[in-house]
Amino acid sequence: MVVYLDNAATSWPKPEAVTLEMAKCIREYGANPGRGGHRMAMRAGEKVYECRENLAKLFSIPDPLQLVFTVNATEAINLALKGILAPGDHVIMTSMEHNAVVRPLKKLASAGVELSIVKAGPRGKVKTTDIKENIQENTKLLVVTHASNVTGTVNDLVPLGRLAQEQGVHFMVDAAQTAGKQPIDVGLMKIDLLAFSGHKGLLGPQGTGGLYIRPGLPLDTLKEGGTGSASESPYQPAFLPDRYESGTLNTPGIAGLNEGIKFILETGVNNIREHENQLTGYMIERLREIKGVRLYGSSDPQGQAGVISITIAGEDCQVVCRELDEKYNIAARGGLHCACLAHGTIGTQDQGTIRFSPGHFNTVHDLDRALQAVEAIAGD
Ligand code: ALA
Repeated sequence: MVVYLDNAATSWPKPEAVTLEMAKCIREYGANPGRGGHRMAMRAGEKVYECRENLAKLFSIPDPLQLVFTVNATEAINLALKGILAPGDHVIMTSMEHNAVVRPLKKLASAGVELSIVKAGPRGKVKTTDIKENIQENTKLLVVTHASNVTGTVNDLVPLGRLAQEQGVHFMVDAAQTAGKQPIDVGLMKIDLLAFSGHKGLLGPQGTGGLYIRPGLPLDTLKEGGTGSASESPYQPAFLPDRYESGTLNTPGIAGLNEGIKFILETGVNNIREHENQLTGYMIERLREIKGVRLYGSSDPQGQAGVISITIAGEDCQVVCRELDEKYNIAARGGLHCACLAHGTIGTQDQGTIRFSPGHFNTVHDLDRALQAVEAIAGD
């Protein structure tokens, strides 16, 4: 039986209801939401709205219509960054950002947007004071990852949001690694833009993600097209979510995502976080005892969102992960995890790390299997 420890890439398995609802959607009501008045289309539309409502509940968003569906967190991030920044604006990001943030910002920088990169500490934590020092008159946006996909290090969003608000800077959070796993409250954290993935902590299928846009925030569109609304006009509607949702939605995916979110709401984010913290803490403690293993990240399970990155002296990370898979039937990710600056920050830019990312359905027994394998490989 496989031990799946790659939940930072995509969660697996999913709650049974996710799979069942996706099949039901395709079989029974897989019409185009918002594109017709017949009962099947209405039912599809209601399901999409139900998912919006559940997301709003999860992130304490007063109006579900401020949530826009995208195909993944990367698309949500691109929409946010390209929609808000213009030449002459200044944007601040941290050195722990995923390439989903780094690459669009590098492209925008080549088109005249001013970019500052605030270096996090060697454990992946960014200091609010360092961010503050980089704020200038034309700073429009601060972009911070809630938790690094390389080290799992969680950033405390409350002081960062407060700082952004005090300084008149928009605050954007990449919650790809934390949505569904860490409490997020857009009001309390003063988040203007929240990008999230649907297929990781939210337990939905791949091909789902979304963006929360604070009411009144002026954001240009990334794409235009049919929305099923205001069809008499050749121009993109101004109201949300239609303004940012052109083309047919991934209705079966959203129906599945809705079940993932329902599972999270029923289980409780704090309970999910507690279970992952326990697993993370256990794994960190045991890894510390293995000679030749180097651990990255905060080393504090409370501040490390279900991601444990290590290197093993004298071993190539990708080769180790291949061995974990082929010899021990353990799924982990090895190498560079699409976050070049983050690897630079922690000093693993050459060959990356071996990353274990337990999820809600993992047990201590799963971790013991991984630990035994690491011990054997490190002892070779
Ligand atoms: N960003 C995902 C990961 O960290 C795919 O693996």
